Amino acid sequence: MDRLVIQGGVPLLGRVAISGAKNAALPCIAAALLTAEPVQLRHLPAVSDIRTMIRVLQALGCAAESQKDEAGFDMSVQLTAASLDTGELRAPYDLVKTMRASILVLGPLLARFGRASVSLPGGCAIGARPVNLHLEALERMGAQMTIDKGYVEARVPVGRLRGIDHAFTKVSVGATENILMAATLADGTTTLRNAAQEPEVGDLAIMLQAMGAQIEGINTPTLTIRGVERLGGCEHAVIPDRIEAGTFLCAVAAACGDVVLERVEPDQIRSVIDLLERCGCVFTERQGAEGRHLRIQRECGQKLRAKDIATAPYPGFPTDLQAQVMAVMTQATGISVIRETIFENRFQHAMELERLGANLRIDGGTAIVAGPCPLTGCTVMATDLRASATLVIAGLVAQGETTVDRIYHLDRGYAGLEQKLKSLGARVERVGGGKV
Ligand code: UD1
Repeated sequence: MDRLVIQGGVPLLGRVAISGAKNAALPCIAAALLTAEPVQLRHLPAVSDIRTMIRVLQALGCAAESQKDEAGFDMSVQLTAASLDTGELRAPYDLVKTMRASILVLGPLLARFGRASVSLPGGCAIGARPVNLHLEALERMGAQMTIDKGYVEARVPVGRLRGIDHAFTKVSVGATENILMAATLADGTTTLRNAAQEPEVGDLAIMLQAMGAQIEGINTPTLTIRGVERLGGCEHAVIPDRIEAGTFLCAVAAACGDVVLERVEPDQIRSVIDLLERCGCVFTERQGAEGRHLRIQRECGQKLRAKDIATAPYPGFPTDLQAQVMAVMTQATGISVIRETIFENRFQHAMELERLGANLRIDGGTAIVAGPCPLTGCTVMATDLRASATLVIAGLVAQGETTVDRIYHLDRGYAGLEQKLKSLGARVERVGGGKV
């Protein structure tokens, strides 16, 4: 099993290109199931979750051809879901259990074929993560569901889903994406209220429009989708990964340095920039040849101020950056209260940070961090994707050697994190049983 060995205490200096957004790419891959024509996706991050999602589509009978770009951090894929009609349309447990986002094939399959069999994802390290919001909306659209041997067996008796006026009882990124895709081919108009406004939902909607879908209200809490008879192929480049960008910002804020992020959308990480600015980091934005650039500076020895954070749906502070920002707060002067409001079990990194010397306390969904605290390297264990990134950030800060174990979690969602950090001067090595 691979692990990262980090020699801490080195500031980060230089430029780094942000990869395509994993969480935008996953629904875009699922959307290829909505058409028999080829779909060309570019700027996908070369990470294991993307490879898993492509495998899910291949298991359903979809043809896939992928290619890495020169640097090896991004990839493109052509997906053709032409002759799936006669197949089993079954997303198997072996794949779904490794990645919950596989449930995103359910909406497109029901919309186009009127039937699907998708394994239920099961539990997850950061919380229960049910899929009831996805299933309830699809049932209202006319799907009949049973759970049999761990699989959702779904079919649409009348053949085609129907449009509905639906208010989600809770904001859910995945449920919004699943029902948005389902609605594109439904009979009639669907209105989705209390829809997630995350940029990844907007990116999916733009791709669906390029396929011929009729969608209004993109990037607002109310989406209106007029169902069409069929969708066609398209070419689509996914948006830059705001969570990867935010992770680098947290790394510089915690370990000090001067770094320019290339191919980034600062407007999509405004809550993070604002927070780190209030802590004392300095930001500069400008337009480059290949998208926007964002520079972050924290001079060595410069004090950070502790700030409070509460995670919230977009445009609030992202839960996917809560762990990384906790590593920053261990270096800030004062008390920081961090409230996690999206997932109930998302503080597993806290115990590992304590092992490195952080001074913190967890009380239910709240973490209280007292800083600044000198961190000292030791062996720590990654428990989930974003927790792994936090431990890497803490390792960059800690004096001496930190070993982050179980980094297969990291490989699920960060394209070449250690190579990118190395290019910024960090002393990071991957050791162990080879690439995932
Ligand atoms: C997506 C992201 C994940 C991010 C999360 C919240 C992808 C692939 N993953 O996950 O990185 O942390 O959004 O920004 O895009 N819920 C229900 N019932 C449901 C669905 C969700 O109760 O049917 C709850 C969840 O348990 C959670 C909350 O709603 O408490 C938000 O979850 P959701 O937005 O659905 O997260 P995902 O789409 O799974």
